[in-house]
Amino acid sequence: MIVIRGATTIPSDTKEEIQKAVSELLEQIESRNSLKRDEIVSLVFSSTSDIHSYYPAKAARDAGFMSCSLFSAQEPEIDGGLPLCIRCMIFVEKNLAPSHVYLRGAKVLRKDIAGKMNIAIDGPAGSGKSTVAKRVAKDYNILYLDTGAMYRACALKVLEAGIDPNDETAIVDLMRDVKLDVVYENGIQKTLLDGKDVSEEIRKNPVSMASSVVSKHPSVRMHLVEKQREIAGRMSCILDGRDIGTYVLPDADFKFYLTASPDVRARRRYDELKAKGTEVDYEQLKGEIIRRDEQDMNRKFAPLKQAEDAVLIDTSDMTIDEVVSAIEHVMQEKL
Ligand code: DC
Repeated sequence: MIVIRGATTIPSDTKEEIQKAVSELLEQIESRNSLKRDEIVSLVFSSTSDIHSYYPAKAARDAGFMSCSLFSAQEPEIDGGLPLCIRCMIFVEKNLAPSHVYLRGAKVLRKDIAGKMNIAIDGPAGSGKSTVAKRVAKDYNILYLDTGAMYRACALKVLEAGIDPNDETAIVDLMRDVKLDVVYENGIQKTLLDGKDVSEEIRKNPVSMASSVVSKHPSVRMHLVEKQREIAGRMSCILDGRDIGTYVLPDADFKFYLTASPDVRARRRYDELKAKGTEVDYEQLKGEIIRRDEQDMNRKFAPLKQAEDAVLIDTSDMTIDEVVSAIEHVMQEKL
């Protein structure tokens, strides 16, 4: 028998919010631990004393947890405790290394991890960095900074201006008068070029290729790295890119290097673009991804490279849930 822990918070004390939060928490615990319902022996909940509207155990029943025993209790009021918080312990008849799940900021107020932390995720295109980084950011209630979007925005400007992406001097001149901003709306990063939201445009294929070229120029990198360090210095965040663990934040608290086979990476990008309604040729896309990796790995200044102290994760045969679990497991061990 093993025990898995979980915790989440609710925005307000209503039956609906409790049901939603409990169902999301249990779903995540099941998925990240690859649990089957009949492996769960019992669920024990505790909720903070500001929750009155509904029993979390009943919410679990409502979510379909019928065959295990359930119990809810109320926690004493502790000074400085996290408000509107529901915790649970799941007893499971299975032999596994448990992945504990903390959602909606439930973890950040724990004393042992209350300090600021920076997480670096590097790796080639399509290795799953951004999807995974977004999920970890949500779980830890910290900011996600997509540094690739900055290089992409710069590349878009260069293409629009009809400048050769290899022409460092012309790009430096151009960028001097460009306002590149990263803002957040409902926790989602928006990339602004001279005030215009270009978040969608920068995902297009010609921009991907050009971004890999403009990002080899040291002066472009210095300019953007300064912004990245400034943001990371102010708050807890998870940054994904190519040089975060090696160059931008060599002292990051956690470093991960994600990779996957070129076929898997090309397939992911292909599916992503297809889902957005963009017609692409798979073989061409794969060729471009390989070319981009070569460029990113072989540039002189801050190339794509695994930091010596980064944890390597090959995501080829892993689901997103499994990668998130692996990362959070490493973090939990150290926190
Ligand atoms: O992660 P992405 O595909 O959005 O990145 C686009 C390009 O930007 C990538 O090919 C290389 C460059 N890049 C970089 O050089 N350093 C970073 N930290 C992030 C991206």
